[in-house]
Amino acid sequence: MSFSILGTGKAVPQFVLTNDDLSKMVDTNDEWIRTRTGIRERRICKEETITDLCVSAAEEAMKDANITANELDLIICATFRGEFITPSEASLIQKRIGASCPAFDINGACSGFIFALDVALGYFARKTVKKVLVIGADNLSNVTDWNDRSTCVLFGDGSGAVVLGEGEGLKSIHLTLKGDSDVLYVPRGKNTSPMYEHESENPVVHMQGSEVYKFAVIAMIKGIRKALKDAGLTEEDVAWVVPHQANIRIINAAIEKLNIHPEKFFCNLDKYGNTSAGSVPIALDEANKAGKFKSGDIIVLCAFGAGLTTGSAVIRWE
Ligand code: ACO
Repeated sequence: MSFSILGTGKAVPQFVLTNDDLSKMVDTNDEWIRTRTGIRERRICKEETITDLCVSAAEEAMKDANITANELDLIICATFRGEFITPSEASLIQKRIGASCPAFDINGACSGFIFALDVALGYFARKTVKKVLVIGADNLSNVTDWNDRSTCVLFGDGSGAVVLGEGEGLKSIHLTLKGDSDVLYVPRGKNTSPMYEHESENPVVHMQGSEVYKFAVIAMIKGIRKALKDAGLTEEDVAWVVPHQANIRIINAAIEKLNIHPEKFFCNLDKYGNTSAGSVPIALDEANKAGKFKSGDIIVLCAFGAGLTTGSAVIRWE
């Protein structure tokens, strides 16, 4: 038993931070950011909490799927930056939407949404669930060094959600991890124990951009090919690719090696930047609501992120 996507939703903060706004904060400019990344603006939480965004995205996805919260059997939230360290972000969402099912978080960084789909698949295979809410969300503005021009121009906040139901929509899913805490990481920050004898690192994104870039391009190409092969499909069968929205140059470099028309790659990173675990489900919802997907379309999801994680999946839209 697999699953199908019954509904999608998304929520982003109201506040828009443009490249011009950033050029007043650090030594950068719109032209550099646009040509090196494709990003024009991003949404940043000012008044909203990440939970507000998750709840809005979840409610929109449930409405789209025509179900109520009490029909949910499980909630999984993919995030590395929930509102609290504990309880989980998923527990906060469960309470706010009025559900009564188990709920937990998983941390797969930017690949987290695809990791969460894989976890959900296990529950469907065991036939212990009929409806599952999967949310991807991160609050990167909270762990961004706003004095570091090489990272602060890349990120935004946001949340996307899907409701899954029993079905045969998921055709394959593939996760990888290349354990690494050097090229991309966010340390925990200050240790409050009076007995702790080491220095604490600044709890912001630390990234070796060019290393992540090289990893990301290969991750996209290999991930898409592997997920298609496992599904018994070829690049020619693909109707849409919904990639992690990190940098348009990463997506274009992958396109050069793949036999999939560039127009089949859905991109919205110009509006939101990299929203980590929110990125793929936000793009999936926007493409869905824009009427891009037809019944029977083969859609490939792919992501990469800290870990270093990758995730790819093939879904037949129903
Ligand atoms: N504005 C102006 N100049 C800048 C900026 C900026 N915002 N940032 C860097 N520069 C400068 C650098 O200082 C450097 O100057 P120098 O040549 O005088 O030293 C020059 O621009 C080139 O810098 P590079 O780092 O070589 O620029 P590059 O073309 O590699 O682009 C980028 C950098 C955009 C970060 C790219 O490497 C990238 O996209 N990497 C992948 C990032 C990514 O996808 N991360 C995923 C994160 S997932 C997560 O964190 C949850």
